[in-house]
Amino acid sequence: MGDNLFSPALDRILPATERYFGKSTIHFPPIPLAAPSTMKVIITGASGVLGRATTRYFHSKGDTVVPLSFTRSGPSDSLSLPAYQKLDLLDFEATREFFQAQNSESHVDVIVHCAAERRPDVAEQDPERAEKLNKDVVKLVAELAEQLECLMIYVSTDYVFDGKNPPYKPADKPNPLNLYGHLKEAGEQAVLSSRQTSKHPDQVGKGSIVLRVPLLYGEVEYNSETAVNIFVDVIQDQSGKTYKMDHFAVRFPTCVEDVARVMYDLSRQYHFFFLHSSTSVADYFPRSNLPSARVDHSKPLPPIVHFSSQKGYTKYEMTRLIASFMNLPIDHVIPDTTDPSTLPNQTVQRPGNTQLSVEALENDVGISAKEDKGFERWWKEWAEKHSANKA
Ligand SMILES: NC(=O)c1ccc[n+]([C@@H]2O[C@H](COP(=O)([O-])OP(=O)(O)OC[C@H]3O[C@@H](n4cnc5c(N)ncnc54)[C@H](OP(=O)(O)O)[C@@H]3O)[C@@H](O)[C@H]2O)c1
Repeated sequence: MGDNLFSPALDRILPATERYFGKSTIHFPPIPLAAPSTMKVIITGASGVLGRATTRYFHSKGDTVVPLSFTRSGPSDSLSLPAYQKLDLLDFEATREFFQAQNSESHVDVIVHCAAERRPDVAEQDPERAEKLNKDVVKLVAELAEQLECLMIYVSTDYVFDGKNPPYKPADKPNPLNLYGHLKEAGEQAVLSSRQTSKHPDQVGKGSIVLRVPLLYGEVEYNSETAVNIFVDVIQDQSGKTYKMDHFAVRFPTCVEDVARVMYDLSRQYHFFFLHSSTSVADYFPRSNLPSARVDHSKPLPPIVHFSSQKGYTKYEMTRLIASFMNLPIDHVIPDTTDPSTLPNQTVQRPGNTQLSVEALENDVGISAKEDKGFERWWKEWAEKHSANKA
């Protein structure tokens, strides 16, 4: 016999409908007949540490992912992932042709722009290349997103702030201390001004989002790939060499897998608002993680959002914690409590505390800022996995 009105099946449906429509009337969720439950997504910088996690995440949800690399071949971690397509984004003509050809094949829904020079010291050594990659290329990709009528997610950084007045909200005024921060802010400006000149300024799904994130960590191909994973090399160097480790600036290390999940949800939420604001996003995109929270549809979604872990550590504290999970001593790592802004010969200035507030992400966009594991659990599991692999 099938389910009737009082059956468990209705019990399963009711809590969901109550979340969307309130308790007084029973409505069944709309059937997402024309729902694009999957999308075509081009990911630039897909061979980088964030790009790999993003490629994996969108692919795992069934999206058609076109991952772009520059020098690297791959993917190295799973044969089921789509292969990288090599493209030098500094070659503007080739980049235009590539994106247009992709769109002619089938409409591109989203571009996630991860490619960048993310190392402040390297940017300072070759400012011309850094400016092209972190500013001019962003402008080009934003223009292409506009032409292709697709959504662009641009990954920016907490380094656009000076670190003097945390926590920072998306609307707070940037004041970068180093070239990398200046260029990432210039990239933001390029993205935001393309939104303002958009043919569809009121249609946010055809616009661009700036997503600011802090210091990242995750699965790497080599430890110096992130400014956190590199602590593993420091810890493992038990040769007698000593290291000074910053114990002044507070960082909020965030896992790339969590950022990937947030970008996936952003892609759904922003597209949905443009396309179909009269139904529920959770029904429209059945694979999304978007929760019950309904956002005020009468307000446009914010152009800048922040995502970050809210747990702060100095670099020394991160090193000490990872070492404890690896069961290795760190007597050779010396905590350095000097405020770098007091040092006369600092080549690259770094902000003290750039904690990013996630309030707008949760309250205005309706996306959870909860981390899957958090720093301690992620590194504990990492250490267990790696010691098991060695055994
Ligand atoms: N890592 C962090 O702690 C952090 C913190 C805040 C914000 N962010 C931002 O997050 C984004 C991703 O950072 P990430 O850590 O994943 O960087 P990453 O690991 O250094 O990766 C950089 C990516 O850019 C690609 N690339 C470099 N030059 C290129 C070119 N000329 N043409 C095309 N692609 C090029 C690289 O390709 P190949 O490797 O194939 O050469 C690589 O895929 C960046 O926008 C960064 O500013 C990062």
